[in-house]
Amino acid sequence: MNLINSNSLANLGCAIFQATGSEKAEATIISNHLVEANLAGHDSHGIVRIAKYVHWQRRGEVLPNQHIKVVRDKGAALLIDGQFGYGQVIGLEAMQMLIDRVKNTGFAVAAIRNSAHLGRIGAWAEQLANAGFPSFHFVNTSGYGILVAPHGGSDRRLSANPVAAGTPSANGPLVLDIATSVIAEGKIQMMRNKHQLLPPGSVIDGNGKPTTDPDSFYADPPGAILPFGGHKGSGLSFFCEVLAGSLTGGFASNSKSPTAGRLVNNMLSIAFDPAYFSGTDFFASDIEQLIKWTTASPPLDPENPVILPGELEDRIRAERRVSGIPVDPETWAQLESAALEVGVNTSDYVKLD
Ligand SMILES: NC(=O)c1ccc[n+]([C@@H]2O[C@H](COP(=O)([O-])OP(=O)(O)OC[C@H]3O[C@@H](n4cnc5c(N)ncnc54)[C@H](O)[C@@H]3O)[C@@H](O)[C@H]2O)c1
Repeated sequence: MNLINSNSLANLGCAIFQATGSEKAEATIISNHLVEANLAGHDSHGIVRIAKYVHWQRRGEVLPNQHIKVVRDKGAALLIDGQFGYGQVIGLEAMQMLIDRVKNTGFAVAAIRNSAHLGRIGAWAEQLANAGFPSFHFVNTSGYGILVAPHGGSDRRLSANPVAAGTPSANGPLVLDIATSVIAEGKIQMMRNKHQLLPPGSVIDGNGKPTTDPDSFYADPPGAILPFGGHKGSGLSFFCEVLAGSLTGGFASNSKSPTAGRLVNNMLSIAFDPAYFSGTDFFASDIEQLIKWTTASPPLDPENPVILPGELEDRIRAERRVSGIPVDPETWAQLESAALEVGVNTSDYVKLD
């Protein structure tokens, strides 16, 4: 495992995206978002995605240098089209618009459709929390991101459909950021790269039998990921389809979608200004009480006290900023080959020991 400095990785990513046609500002935003995911410990949504994004760009599935298009603007309700641009740019611009809106309307909803991969969804909850607003985000994937079996089913019908929520607190944003599947697909890819077995109970093979072999997920017929919490995760995932897919116009997971040939993320984001509800001061002090109350629960295991949503990511971030980001040899080889394909030499940016 190589440990690579986050700034060097971000510069390498930026060079690769510029080489595929993104303007420097866009290349920087995409690369920083991916490296931030690694820093937060979500390697499945970090630089492992670069090779995939390059591939999608070359096939015309993601379009460089796109910006949000406001389709409908009803004050607190925004319908936004991502025009198949990079999700890192579309998400950033849409959240900025939501922040501006929520300041005036007390709460606001952004329904975002036709974005390319929106990456680590917690980033959007963090952006809102840093501006002072609690928020909720429902995401679906139309097109070919359908990987999850519904509870009781045996093949791919839903996507990993992440849900994120965030709130400001005195010590910075608290963010819950989870896929509604037992495991995110990117983690299967990472485990395959590292020749590791999958956690039992996370995946079934193409015949509906439980498996821990990452290859059987990508075999023909393909396997499927299971929803977390049985009917609960499956039901939440179904409503991600409803809210992020059918409601935004981005389509629920459905092979009849006209976007079937590309991976499309759609997202419904809802944000609130505490000033319009309980009041800014009450909200801030009540959150602090809630934090103290929750974390004071005597731990079942003294080695593992209660932690809050987002706390693990904060710890990993602090560690990795100093020690570097661990990159396994297979992920590095994929990144090197994607870089070479677009004329970028990784050694100009990263020196491996
Ligand atoms: N764009 C997409 O289509 C898409 C699809 C699926 C997943 N994702 C992303 O994949 C990433 C990984 O998702 P995941 O489901 O594997 O995440 P995960 O299972 O690692 O859960 C992460 C969340 O759980 C919290 N957490 C972890 N351990 C905890 C503990 N002991 N106590 C309290 N809270 C704890 C974390 O703070 C975080 O909020 C997320 O960033 C998600 O947005 C994106």
